[in-house]
Amino acid sequence: MVRETRLSPENFIYPLFVCPGNGIKREISSMPGNFHWSVDGVAQECREVAALGIPAVILFGLPEAKDEVATGAYAEDGIVQRAIRAIKADVKDLLVVTDVCLCEYTSHGHCGVIKGEEVDNDPSLDLLARTALSHVQAGADIVAPSDMMDGRVGAIRAALDKSGFLETPILAYAAKYASVFYGPFREAADSAPQFGDRRAYQMDPANAREALREVALDLEEGADMVMVKPAMPYLDVIAHVRREFRVPVAAYQVSGEFSMIRAAASLGWLDGERAMMESLTAIRRAGADMILTYFAKDAAKLL
Ligand code: PBG
Repeated sequence: MVRETRLSPENFIYPLFVCPGNGIKREISSMPGNFHWSVDGVAQECREVAALGIPAVILFGLPEAKDEVATGAYAEDGIVQRAIRAIKADVKDLLVVTDVCLCEYTSHGHCGVIKGEEVDNDPSLDLLARTALSHVQAGADIVAPSDMMDGRVGAIRAALDKSGFLETPILAYAAKYASVFYGPFREAADSAPQFGDRRAYQMDPANAREALREVALDLEEGADMVMVKPAMPYLDVIAHVRREFRVPVAAYQVSGEFSMIRAAASLGWLDGERAMMESLTAIRRAGADMILTYFAKDAAKLL
């Protein structure tokens, strides 16, 4: 009766990875219990997610081919675009969120286009806006830019508005840190940078005040909801953002957070179920309205 924080499946967004081919359900070795799904199977998985009371999935794509300018990210028949159509045709009462980024689609693995050895911010904006627009045209309900280029929320908002998608919300990965905890995801999404790292565009883990500036900028540009990522090592940042802003706040319990708990549990070092529930509760307590989590299905079943 006096508990201050409650967890519900309604708080969760479940990440899914879509790959080319047919009849594929391939486990991701660094993230046990998570799979690469081919388009033909992903709707069935989404039906199960919806039946558990989870309101949304977020889609990531592994394209057939990669190139310098991430053509696969904004192709009309791209992997994510096809998955959106398959899910929307088949599953009721499930929001489809899409991760908007170029790193899974570029041959160099960076989140924007490259000039010399640097990511070229402004030419990347047009490609990100095209990517978001193609997702929405395929039926996506919410777009979530994760690239961390400056100005991308504004560019995406303008592109959506111009095409008449005035009502489609943007969930901005606003305070996204250059974190080692994305390690297992880069295997899952095959998106490791081929040279350098992401520290020129993602945030320094040492900075919390800067997170407030990033959030404020994204909101000025038209973001409707903001995200802090990772979650558990950045509970203070979630709490700051919750206190300072009056918009829905999401937190991403990232691949490394998930895999640490899974690994310790499989070695018998930790009670996996309790660690899962405690970590999710703590993220809610810090102030997150929504949690993107690979535990969504397992936690929903327990709840
Ligand atoms: C794409 C993106 C990443 C994640 C979500 N979107 C990887 C990265 O920025 O390197 C990480 C998610 C996770 O680790 O679970 N830019």
